[in-house]
Amino acid sequence: MAKNTQYLCQQCGAVSPKWTGKCEACSAWNSIVEEQISIRPSHAKLARTANRIEFSSLADKKTEQIKERMLSGISEFDRVTGGGIVPGSVLLIGGDPGIGKSTLLLQLACRLSQNERQTVYISGEESADQVRIRGQRLGVVNTDIGLATSTNASEISETIRRTPQLELIIIDSIQTMYLPALDSSPGTVSQVRASAQELIYAAKENNTALIFVGHVTKDGAIAGPRVLEHMVDSVLHFEGDRSHHFRILRGIKNRFGATDEIGVFEMTSNGLNQISNPSELFLTERKNEVAGTAVFAAIEGSRPLLVEIEALVAHSSLATPRRNVVGWENSRLSMLTAVLETRCGMQLSGRDIFLNVAGGMKIQEPAADLAVAAALISSVTNRPLPNSSVFFGEIALSAQIRQVSQPEQRLKEAKKLGFQKAFLPKPIKSNDSNSGLVLSYSENLSDFIDILDGIS
Ligand code: TYD
Ligand code: MG
Repeated sequence: MAKNTQYLCQQCGAVSPKWTGKCEACSAWNSIVEEQISIRPSHAKLARTANRIEFSSLADKKTEQIKERMLSGISEFDRVTGGGIVPGSVLLIGGDPGIGKSTLLLQLACRLSQNERQTVYISGEESADQVRIRGQRLGVVNTDIGLATSTNASEISETIRRTPQLELIIIDSIQTMYLPALDSSPGTVSQVRASAQELIYAAKENNTALIFVGHVTKDGAIAGPRVLEHMVDSVLHFEGDRSHHFRILRGIKNRFGATDEIGVFEMTSNGLNQISNPSELFLTERKNEVAGTAVFAAIEGSRPLLVEIEALVAHSSLATPRRNVVGWENSRLSMLTAVLETRCGMQLSGRDIFLNVAGGMKIQEPAADLAVAAALISSVTNRPLPNSSVFFGEIALSAQIRQVSQPEQRLKEAKKLGFQKAFLPKPIKSNDSNSGLVLSYSENLSDFIDILDGIS
């Protein structure tokens, strides 16, 4: 058995020949750890003699696999995975501690086993009893899933090889797994990477699907090597604000479906409930019209979603006024305030700006620009925006309001939730006319401000 010493960055997985205080690849401080790598041929490697590889046609088995996808019946989860879990695929679910990953996966395992799928749940963090207590709380104790507590990746992979009828294995979490052949301790980059590789080999041989739970670092990236994300077929993030009860499952990477899909859940005392109409949830607290709030008609993945944006522009006593943003990009706000000042003559310097996306939702779409601008303008002028209106449109540096994708779907969702008016970019060819809403088009931000002035 050969032995090696490596210096591995625990943040990014980069290998360096000697110890340094700062990782040259990712600039993290004090993240380099010496690790002993013992190389022992794994089962898969032993089996790998120099045979000629066989080719198969692209046309082979093409639809069978898609038909076989494992549907859980939790439609929010099934949609994020692109229509169920593909047999033999590997999924990685990351998220903050306590956000509900174990709860979600236990519920998923139970639903799948009710659908006659052979499912096991292996916990490296909790004892089988603890998982059972959780199961009682979730009301799923009568389902027939296999529970085990193990942190030994070699044993688990051997179990996978000897149990070909297994269809899904949940590993909670990959950071607790270790390969006895390696000297480094569990949770280090080499252990995480080698354990994942060992488990993936075994699962692919057997066409068993694997779900790994992954811990996240302070900045929200999945802890351990980036390479873990490359090794798996799909990466999902389970996120949410601890002070709010709802959680969002977001697709980051998916080899078998679209990314950017989200699934919305609510954490209750009996586990996670799916929310099939999230717009209602994000807007429930909206009652009186207040200056500084605007409703943005967003598209998350394939689904429209209405979210409320709140802005407060206040006099600042600081030399450098505050720009506090929750749920949106800080740099995008700076760009927007610069456009409002330079192109539209709005006085924002010397003022604190606070921006919040209600309900702890995070928005990434540039289409939110117009809604944010509307909230800012409303706060500055201290006049509420027109009743029952939604906003969407991307704002260019020239203050021009640009087209965004899927306007019809956004308008349809707004109509469904009882909104009456929409502010949007001027369409290239008018085809939104039958949306049932009063549409107000603006070509640039100054026009938009004039329109708002004219209304109130
Ligand atoms: P958990 O699934 O253990 O989180 P993770 O695996 O991501 O660390 O969830 C733990 C939190 O969820 C904990 O704070 C309690 C809460 N919870 C409920 O509110 N209701 C429930 O039915 C369960 C099982 C947990
Ligand atoms: Mg957990």
